[in-house]
Amino acid sequence: MLTLEEKFRELDKRNQEALVGGGEARVVKQHQAGKLTARERIGILLDNGTFEEIDKLVKHRCTDFEMEKNKISGDGVVSGYGKIDGRLVFVFAQDFTVFGGTLSSANAGKIVKVMDMAMKMGAPVIGLNDSGGARIQEGVQSLAGYADIFHLNVKSSGVIPQISAILGPCAGGAVYSPALTDFIVMTKESSYMFVTGPDVIKTVTHETVTKEELGGAMTHNSKSGVAHLMGDDEEKTLMLIRELTGFLPSNNMEDPPVRPSGDDSDRQDESLQNLVPADPNKPYDMMVIIESAVDDHNFLEIMPHYAKNMITGFGRLAGRPVGIVANQPAFLAGVLDINSSVKAARFVRFCDAFNIPLITLVDVPGFLPGVNQEFGGIIKHGAKLLYAFSEATVPKITLITRKAYGGAYDVMASKHIGADVNLAYPTAEIAVMGPEGAVNIIFRHKISDKEKADAVEDYRNAFANPYKAAELGYIDEIIYPRETRKKLISALEMAQNKSVSGPSRKHGNIPL
Ligand code: HXC
Repeated sequence: MLTLEEKFRELDKRNQEALVGGGEARVVKQHQAGKLTARERIGILLDNGTFEEIDKLVKHRCTDFEMEKNKISGDGVVSGYGKIDGRLVFVFAQDFTVFGGTLSSANAGKIVKVMDMAMKMGAPVIGLNDSGGARIQEGVQSLAGYADIFHLNVKSSGVIPQISAILGPCAGGAVYSPALTDFIVMTKESSYMFVTGPDVIKTVTHETVTKEELGGAMTHNSKSGVAHLMGDDEEKTLMLIRELTGFLPSNNMEDPPVRPSGDDSDRQDESLQNLVPADPNKPYDMMVIIESAVDDHNFLEIMPHYAKNMITGFGRLAGRPVGIVANQPAFLAGVLDINSSVKAARFVRFCDAFNIPLITLVDVPGFLPGVNQEFGGIIKHGAKLLYAFSEATVPKITLITRKAYGGAYDVMASKHIGADVNLAYPTAEIAVMGPEGAVNIIFRHKISDKEKADAVEDYRNAFANPYKAAELGYIDEIIYPRETRKKLISALEMAQNKSVSGPSRKHGNIPL
């Protein structure tokens, strides 16, 4: 019979084996590749000393390809729970030093276990991905493991926040778990995601492309719109996740966490008075208004490199997190196109699912004309944004700073699709279309340039302002730019107990 001491020694030995992972040589290789180990990453992500590991001693059960001779405790993923800013989160980190972090049946079981627990306890799940994909030796059991995870990703969607970091390879079908989560954060130059890699592409389509060009962090942050944020290195990537979770409730039954700030709710900003130029064709930076309005000028932009004509991101007003959606007149005049519509629609739906009020800042000349846009389906993609704003039942506060033309006026959280408070600057222009376009249609037969110019001026005076809409009650108040913060905070406070419910249905049918 073993003595107590021997029993404790046995536990020490097994724990130690698990901590070593794939061994010193593979850890060195990981570091040489500029990457951290799974445990180092968790150590940075979570509050100091809060990580509690689960399933440290799990091993795979594969007996093909002599795998029974090669078992490593933990089996390529480190999982458990801990805290970020004192709040519970669940985490799994693929351990590339063990079988390349690949997904076996046992390894998938560990991920599924923390995802299940996160759902039960109502806390976010954060996945740190760094894996060679399906463990080839396990065949279809690995595919089954992926599908179990995908299924749970979908069940958890809208119930708990799900965040994915991509910190190494994430290829093949493995990309679909991160793709089903709410946010993907990638690290510059050491992470990549693709369904098929450069070699397969070369064979099939004869295109030559590097891994980085095809699926690196910048590609997915700026071109494909697959990723939402990017860190210069792993530490910055993990810090971004900490910052992001600070804006989010732990689950869909909670309100987002209030963080009181010393920033005065009545703070006025004189510099905003002159920000929007009198000439409607001159651009200005909408970000100035956002950063002026939010607490401590602190704004976390989501998807900053993609569809820059639309700004999305999180800030706080009087301590309460808000989601901000804003046209950016400094880029493509803030026009609504396919990419900006989809970007904003997804963000709006996330905010609505997690009780985060929406602040919408509008300066939009309309939808982008063009054959590419029409062939690409701007009708259905624009409809996504219209659907998302209409469907959202969180408090919706809208401020029109300048242009709100045509269908884009309706789409951008207008009163008519359920905004609670609609404000406008005196510089707002709310009409079916801009003066030049309108005159060209209405006065098509007036030939003289002088007559046209006069008509444009008349139209501008009559319609390119917020007063018609205010007379009709579509705009609740016309405000001075300097009082933007104060007015948004008052509106938000008024709407904070908003409650609306729609007819019972299984789910709507957003035009995907
Ligand atoms: C089993 C794997 C593996 C895999 C890597 N390893 N991928 N073991 N199954 N899929 C092992 C390697 O044998 C090696 O073990 C260790 O992980 C590290 O791999 P290296 O090749 O040494 O590392 P590196 O040079 O950095 O290259 C990483 C890599 C490469 C680019 C990921 O390993 C690779 O291309 N792997 C194959 C990827 C793949 O085709 N996966 C299946 C995709 S299909 P040792 O013992 O030497 O350290 C898929 C379907 C998912 O995933 C479907 C979901 C529905």
